[in-house]
Amino acid sequence: MEAGIDDIALFIPRLYVDYRDFADARSVSREKLEKGIGVKQMAIPDSDEDTATMAATACLRLMRKNNLSPKNIGRIDIATEGGLDESKPLTTYVIGMLEQVYGKGSFQHCMGVEYKSACVAGSRALLDSVNWINSGENKAGLVVRHRESPGTWAPSEGRAAIVIASDIAKYDIGSPGEYTQGAGAVAMLVTENPRLVSLDRGVASWVMQDDYDFYRPHGHETPIVNGKHSLDCYVEQVARAFRGFKGNALQTGAVKNSHDFTGAIDYFAFHLPFPKMGKKALERILAEEYVDEITHILGPFGPLLTNERDMLGDKSKLMEILRIKKSENVFRQKVEPSVIGCAHVGNIYTGSVFLSLASILDTEHNARKSLAGRRVVFLSYGSGSSAVVYSGVIGEGYADAIGRGIVAPALEGRQRLSMEQYGALHRKETKEPVAEKRDQFVLKSKDGEGRRHYAYNK
Ligand code: CAA
Repeated sequence: MEAGIDDIALFIPRLYVDYRDFADARSVSREKLEKGIGVKQMAIPDSDEDTATMAATACLRLMRKNNLSPKNIGRIDIATEGGLDESKPLTTYVIGMLEQVYGKGSFQHCMGVEYKSACVAGSRALLDSVNWINSGENKAGLVVRHRESPGTWAPSEGRAAIVIASDIAKYDIGSPGEYTQGAGAVAMLVTENPRLVSLDRGVASWVMQDDYDFYRPHGHETPIVNGKHSLDCYVEQVARAFRGFKGNALQTGAVKNSHDFTGAIDYFAFHLPFPKMGKKALERILAEEYVDEITHILGPFGPLLTNERDMLGDKSKLMEILRIKKSENVFRQKVEPSVIGCAHVGNIYTGSVFLSLASILDTEHNARKSLAGRRVVFLSYGSGSSAVVYSGVIGEGYADAIGRGIVAPALEGRQRLSMEQYGALHRKETKEPVAEKRDQFVLKSKDGEGRRHYAYNK
């Protein structure tokens, strides 16, 4: 079996803004946020949380849940748009914090870098770790090969990788991006014979071009956003990457049915800057797929329909109605289970596509559906701009990894912020942290030389 995601742990800040408080304070209609955008809550980091504390806490949760010791891990890569230093990688901050729990020097054998390519970087980090394991590099120089608890980790498996995606989506107060804010970290255990998703080999399709849809020049705390253009870039780039993915998947035999290609996909895990984005991107992909399908059904008349659809008058309208109907069904079955995390957390940039995956697993497992063998397609977009589409198959052991859920436990004990508290946090005027922290890493202080001091709050 190909390597992939064995387990996922999340860290979501306890503090959040409710969309109703937000809508009333900004004089935006609640219906727009709830129905037009799909947002319900936005996770907001406290004054003692940053991308490093979120990443380290998610990683600690993952290690504890799987009874891992540092020697089982060969690399920790972190994808983020919120690096804390122009040189020092986020991984070193995280290892520094983890060593407060596991002992000084316990991660010194580990490699790891910080990945930056806007929101798409999490997917790149994951694919690189999967390739590292598939190539057998993770077994090089191996001394200790066992999980701490015997019986669950075969010696041949070598070291595991951990991929973390950690981000804070912060926009200017009063800007249209403000209601798509969010924060959180996703830590993934990458192994051979994974329980959650084994990634298909040779199917990933990457596209890239030079765009200024959303960018954050050095020194800016919030991005410069060309909102409508960013939606167009997202949809076009993801559709292009999907076309490449389709070609690769058919060529490798990962998917066999070229005439009902999307029928062979059980779930779409999109990068979701806000929940409604999945619907927009799906509609674009299905429009192309639909033309392919109809062309196949109509045989020699297909090109006429494809190229001169307008000439078909009422028939064309009928086709459009059928297409929309079909896309609504596909959305309900294959995308809707993925949006619950984004609706309650907001945009988490690099981790968003994996929050979609975790939401699918939780939602469908709770609905008692049998998931083993189901194919998930990942559609990852990064402004600037690039997209990658790839796929995987849910493993036999998924229920064991999901346990009592991935997303819901990370949202327990949350605290609703008043808009005044939120405003003070946004403007960095909060003197003391708003919430008391238990069982997580926190930022204690920053010194005049750019050093950050962290502690573990038991
Ligand atoms: N009831 C129901 N729906 C309503 C409504 C009401 N009363 N009022 C408005 N709506 C609907 C609108 O019809 C619209 O729906 P459609 O998109 O289906 O047409 C939707 O609500 C949004 O309304 P607007 O078009 O008026 O949206 P806006 O001008 O407020 O901006 C946005 C939306 C461009 C996404 C903005 O929030 C933004 O700039 N966000 C940040 C950038 C972003 O997330 N871009 C996404 C692609 S880039 C990316 O993915 C990378 C990344 O992570 C940032």
